[in-house]
Amino acid sequence: MKRIGILTSGGDAPGMNAAVRAVTKTAIHNGLGVVGIRYGYAGLVAGDFVTLTAENVDHLISSGGTFLYSARYPEFAQKEVQEKGVEQLKKHDIDTVIVIGGDGSYHGALALTRLGINSIGLPGTIDNDIPCTDYTIGLDTACTTAMQAIDKIRDTASSHHRVFIVNVMGRNCGDIAMRVGLASGADAIVVPERSYDVKEIAKTLQSGFADGKDHGIIVLAEGVMDAADFKTELLQYGDFDARASVIGHMQRGGSPTVTDRINATKMGNYAVKLLLAGKGGLAVGMKGGQLETHDILDLFEETHDSEEALIDINEEMTK
Ligand code: F6P
Repeated sequence: MKRIGILTSGGDAPGMNAAVRAVTKTAIHNGLGVVGIRYGYAGLVAGDFVTLTAENVDHLISSGGTFLYSARYPEFAQKEVQEKGVEQLKKHDIDTVIVIGGDGSYHGALALTRLGINSIGLPGTIDNDIPCTDYTIGLDTACTTAMQAIDKIRDTASSHHRVFIVNVMGRNCGDIAMRVGLASGADAIVVPERSYDVKEIAKTLQSGFADGKDHGIIVLAEGVMDAADFKTELLQYGDFDARASVIGHMQRGGSPTVTDRINATKMGNYAVKLLLAGKGGLAVGMKGGQLETHDILDLFEETHDSEEALIDINEEMTK
């Protein structure tokens, strides 16, 4: 093995930089070179490469975003585009690649492996929507950011006896909403994984106000519907003042939490060890806090299991 290439792909996530740092430092410790590939698969095909040293990744443990930049590049699904990428890698003496990104990124890692470049995928997305893992890099920071925003929203909600419908990210996955909803003591958590009854939610909020509660919080996953539309539906059944609030991209930024820093570091370190053992075509995941690997192909057949028990717990607290 000569040099490892590393890229970040898809939406950025806090902790991606910590993973790049861990890969670089572990590789150097094992006598290997590391090359950062900028702008994801687009940069791979364009040959936008930068040599990484222990010094230039040193400060990265605490920084959000991805210093390698990211890009969505659907063109990489084409065989001739993949082959161009492989040519660039060979030209730069890179024979293995680590990809940090969401589920779309894994297709590229598998394609590279099939073309002779052993590649490993690390789950990097705030959405936690990747099969075969119950954690993705960035999830914890995004949830912490959303929870802190809701803590602030609650202050103003209470001051005006209002209901707030807070839209959180996650694409079609409700994991951020479930975690943040429970951690924020929401009155209702609405996610794509579960059916909901808006009339019942309005009734719960109404009786909360009747019992002396001074606010209401609904955490709504973006995959369900727009917060403003949800508000319109809700107000058909409840006689209270309501506002819709979208936290948005703030959830993707910021310094990673301890959990994201540690897990990203463990995953980066593990990925290098897999490559050193001659492995490729694998996705690193985490179940019950333990690192696991799966064939990337398995990910395409499985679906992600959300921790829906969090909703059950929340409902026992509100009804
Ligand atoms: O996949 C991460 C994510 O932030 C999703 O939660 C969200 O739906 C999407 O990306 C937003 O994409 P963009 O940054 O392209 O608007």
